[in-house]
Amino acid sequence: MFEKPASAGHPILDLLARRWSTRAFSDRSVDRETLASLFEAARWAPSSGNGQPWSYLVATKDDPVEHERMGSVLTPGNVWAHKAPVLAISVATIHRADKPNRTAHHDLGLANENLVIQAGSMGLAVHMMAGFHIDMAREVFDIPATHDPLAMIAIGYPGDPESLPEELRAKDLAPRQRKPIREFVFRGKFGQPAGLE
Ligand SMILES: Cc1cc2nc3c(=O)[nH]c(=O)nc-3n(C[C@H](O)[C@H](O)[C@H](O)COP(=O)(O)O)c2cc1C
Repeated sequence: MFEKPASAGHPILDLLARRWSTRAFSDRSVDRETLASLFEAARWAPSSGNGQPWSYLVATKDDPVEHERMGSVLTPGNVWAHKAPVLAISVATIHRADKPNRTAHHDLGLANENLVIQAGSMGLAVHMMAGFHIDMAREVFDIPATHDPLAMIAIGYPGDPESLPEELRAKDLAPRQRKPIREFVFRGKFGQPAGLE
């Protein structure tokens, strides 16, 4: 399996360091129990007021029609994701009672990251995608206006980046980049580095 661990400047959890967003998935399917664990992990994420403003639509390759239907809402840039045995759409509930839920997207992100880390611990690869046709997803899956389809998720066992077409292979093999801590952790005033790098 191809790995490209984070070049972390300070110690972090191995699971966090080793997670990355591959575009190469193997043919191996993900069994029902394993898939259930991923959503169980999402279920236990924290959320403002325990509002749990998340839902998921899931399609697996053992139901090819449904998998194809979900794949049809992806943008062409995410064509590689059709190979993933599991596709999902994560959806935020943007209203709580009759008020907007200001933290809905944040909390959905926490649930998604729980899923990602659980998946990593089980040897699975996950790749989030904003590149899908939102209005089409709303229509195809009957998602109400009170809910925001936010990110699609490709899930499967990691494949070999060498099997990808040239452009995608180059992206998969490229080193992972991050801005330094001083550019986003401040002290005293916004923009003033906290000195933690
Ligand atoms: C909400 C979200 C949307 C993303 N959308 C896409 C996408 O549409 N297509 C894609 O190839 N990668 C997408 N990514 C993956 C990011 O490009 C990737 O996480 C980032 O480049 C960092 O790389 P790493 O995850 O390998 O560390 C998305 C990631 C997130 C969190």
